[in-house]
Amino acid sequence: MLRGKYKKYKTLYIYSFKNFHPALNQFEDEDLIGVWEEDGVGILFFHKPKDELVEELIKKYGLKLDFKDAMPYEKWNENRVLKPFKVGPYKIAPLWYEGKWDLIFDPSIVFGEGTHPTTSMILELSWEFYQNFGKPQKVLDIGCGTGILTLFWAKLGADVIAVDINPLCVKVTKHNLILNDLSAEVIEGDIKRFLPIKVDLVLANLYKGLLEELFNLPSFWDSKFYLISGFMSNMEKELLEILKSCKVKILKRKEKEDWVSWLLESIKEGI
Ligand SMILES: C[S@@+](CC[C@H](N)C(=O)[O-])C[C@H]1O[C@@H](n2cnc3c(N)ncnc32)[C@H](O)[C@@H]1O
Repeated sequence: MLRGKYKKYKTLYIYSFKNFHPALNQFEDEDLIGVWEEDGVGILFFHKPKDELVEELIKKYGLKLDFKDAMPYEKWNENRVLKPFKVGPYKIAPLWYEGKWDLIFDPSIVFGEGTHPTTSMILELSWEFYQNFGKPQKVLDIGCGTGILTLFWAKLGADVIAVDINPLCVKVTKHNLILNDLSAEVIEGDIKRFLPIKVDLVLANLYKGLLEELFNLPSFWDSKFYLISGFMSNMEKELLEILKSCKVKILKRKEKEDWVSWLLESIKEGI
């Protein structure tokens, strides 16, 4: 994250390990960008080279260095340029852009810079939903990443619960809420552990495998509306097949650069 003297990302100094130690999730350093933990493997990201410090951490926590690397920030983001964008009347920008914005955010090194088709479609559908149905009281953001969807709905006045399995995403989302003087409940862990969570609107920009798992769980279908994203048009048929046995109907479908998003409404009795 951007803190202290760091106002913008330039080069990422990356130390990737073959293992992980839970203490790293509490590790702090003035040059640290973030600690990424996935499947028992850890990666440390810094704003500058930190060989000596990393040597100490290796000894202290029994870490095994896999590789180290340095790369421009934009390259980590699949060469996408982070830039301001608009959703309805709301102007949203990465933290370092000067100007008058309704929402600002630190994209850090996690997913959710707002301009990826999967995110931008959910944001557009969110605004359309707000215009057509008004403000849902409770919103669940599954896989919040940077918290971009959480920020948007919190700004619109909804009570948002955000969940992410990645501890760094939870930290970044909390940081971004503070930057905007907004609040939401942000929970770390696998969404499947917490279901059912009954809300008015579920946001799920995930990946096909997890969407399939969730669609097959009756406890996922406890809410009224769902904005689903994160799958490509060639995956749609398989997901539609699973949807046939779920009590929902598709209210709206969007497609952008071969990615597809749906707005679903539950037709289950009592919802
Ligand atoms: C594609 S990103 C979406 C980020 C942001 N919501 C957006 O729309 O741009 C998916 C997020 O889901 C999280 N995730 C993956 N599996 C998860 C799980 N089982 N439970 C909760 N979050 C999960 C990932 O860590 C990642 O941050």
